[in-house]
Amino acid sequence: MQAIVLVGGMGTRLRPLTDTVPKPALTLVDRPFLAYMIEWLAEHGVTEAVLACGFLPDQLREALGDGEHAGVALTYVVEPDRRGTAGAIRYAAESLGDRLEDRFLALNGDVLTDLDLTTLLRAHEDRGARATIGLYPVEDSSVYGLVECHPDGSVLAFTEKTGEAVPGEINAGAYVLERSVLDLIPAGRQFSIEHEVFPRLVGDGLCALRLDGYWMDIGTPERYLQATWDILERRVDTAVRPTAPGMFVGADCALATTSRVGPRAVVSAGCAVEAEATVDASVLLPGCTVGEGARVRGSILGAGAEVAPGAEVLDAMVAENERVAP
Ligand code: GDD
Ligand code: MG
Repeated sequence: MQAIVLVGGMGTRLRPLTDTVPKPALTLVDRPFLAYMIEWLAEHGVTEAVLACGFLPDQLREALGDGEHAGVALTYVVEPDRRGTAGAIRYAAESLGDRLEDRFLALNGDVLTDLDLTTLLRAHEDRGARATIGLYPVEDSSVYGLVECHPDGSVLAFTEKTGEAVPGEINAGAYVLERSVLDLIPAGRQFSIEHEVFPRLVGDGLCALRLDGYWMDIGTPERYLQATWDILERRVDTAVRPTAPGMFVGADCALATTSRVGPRAVVSAGCAVEAEATVDASVLLPGCTVGEGARVRGSILGAGAEVAPGAEVLDAMVAENERVAP
């Protein structure tokens, strides 16, 4: 099975962390965010993934490697200009040439999920659909694609970002597509699958299925942190091995005996937490130092950041290699 993963977004709401690292390459617990997605795809039979990139592809390539990850062969394609979600899918599909299969998966690359793609693929096949959207129920659907379905699974309406905070089943950003869907996408220009393809397919082979499991768009600092605790407290199925529930401590860390770290924390490889310092509900990316008596809470420290002795970092994001003075 082939998959196209859309990773062209800018990650603006995770600045300053995403000033230097594209969101899919940002470390979540112990691996680049996109690694979770590739590992999830592998579990559902994907053997080849095309990563449709827009922003800093070299760093993504560096983070995930050029060959394969978890048994999935990876290729990177960069659109010459911004193509939108459908345009990017078409561009990535074309990069496969004759090797593109009749049926493939397309995914938004900015969610952490363990939804059951195997069931989605089966439903698509059983219904003879042209496109099948995985759905996830939320309390506030306003910033997502809201999908209304007939009991037989056919989509009655697809509305992108209604702006209304009503509960509903939303587009989880996981699609099974028949190759013929690409004919609806014009070549060489910006085109949106949510605004221009799905509405057109309503009544013409567009199906959807609510899936079981965990799903989270990690686009904001709050959700990045929540996803971290969900991984470390095993609310989502991943390959990460927590050091303790809610805790992950990487290799070569120096935690002073009088420091207090946790009950929820990620201390990545090569970090130092000095005497009497406290770190809680926070993520320290690799190589950070928290000085003597300093306090870090509810925060994300970019790689190599340094919190001076006695300084406080509360509910903040600190850029890579930044120094926080007391
Ligand atoms: N390559 C490429 N090129 N990727 C793109 C482009 C592009 O021009 N535009 C967006 N993407 C990628 C983003 O990186 C992201 O992974 C995915 O496509 C979706 O774009 P977002 O900008 O994150 O959209 P959203 O989160 O507001 O809404 C989308 O996701 C929701 C679920 O998280 C929609 O698909 C909604 O319908 C859906 O509910
Ligand atoms: Mg998104």
